[in-house]
Amino acid sequence: MEGVPIRAARRGDIPSLLLLWEQMLKENAAADPRLEPHPRAREHMAAQFQAWLSDAQRIIVVAEEGGRLVIGYAAGAIVPGNGWQAPTTLGEITDCYVARPRRRQGIARRLVGRVIDQLFEKGVDTCRLQVGVHNEGSRAFWASMGWKPHEVVYERPV
Ligand SMILES: CC(C)(COP(=O)(O)OP(=O)(O)OC[C@H]1O[C@@H](n2cnc3c(N)ncnc32)[C@H](O)[C@@H]1OP(=O)(O)O)[C@@H](O)C(=O)NCCC(=O)NCCS
Repeated sequence: MEGVPIRAARRGDIPSLLLLWEQMLKENAAADPRLEPHPRAREHMAAQFQAWLSDAQRIIVVAEEGGRLVIGYAAGAIVPGNGWQAPTTLGEITDCYVARPRRRQGIARRLVGRVIDQLFEKGVDTCRLQVGVHNEGSRAFWASMGWKPHEVVYERPV
């Protein structure tokens, strides 16, 4: 089965990307209040999407239904390693979101696959990402594709 077409994001997608990104933040904050976005987060992210789209180190792909409705997206970046461990350059999956009614149809798997293919073409051989510890669905998704925990981020109020 072919499924929903996946293509590179363009400037005209920014309003849709922002809507999906806001939904992603809402879901993440519902699972863990520490992930609540600040009041100017949308403004910040609008500028980020603009910048990412013209950055050769960044990739954004969208799943578009019916030639007009963006129902999911994934984004990745090439980032430096820490400088004292291999690899010197890493891929990072920064975002991945699929609208609730379209889940469990393999769309995120295809979106991420496309980002990873492009990161690999740009010379990356290892990718990382962060996922909320309470985000059970997402953790199951990444585990289903062979991703394994690497480091655990600890936090406490001071
Ligand atoms: C995580 C997310 C991107 C998955 O999108 P999706 O399109 O439904 O994922 P896929 O259909 O490609 O799933 C592939 C496999 O991952 C696993 N999987 C996906 N979602 C799962 C869930 N909620 N629970 C358990 N396993 C899950 C399954 O093995 C699935 O294969 P199957 O449906 O044949 O069993 C989506 O649920 C989402 O947008 N969540 C909210 C945002 C978020 O948390 N983003 C990630 C931040 S890192």
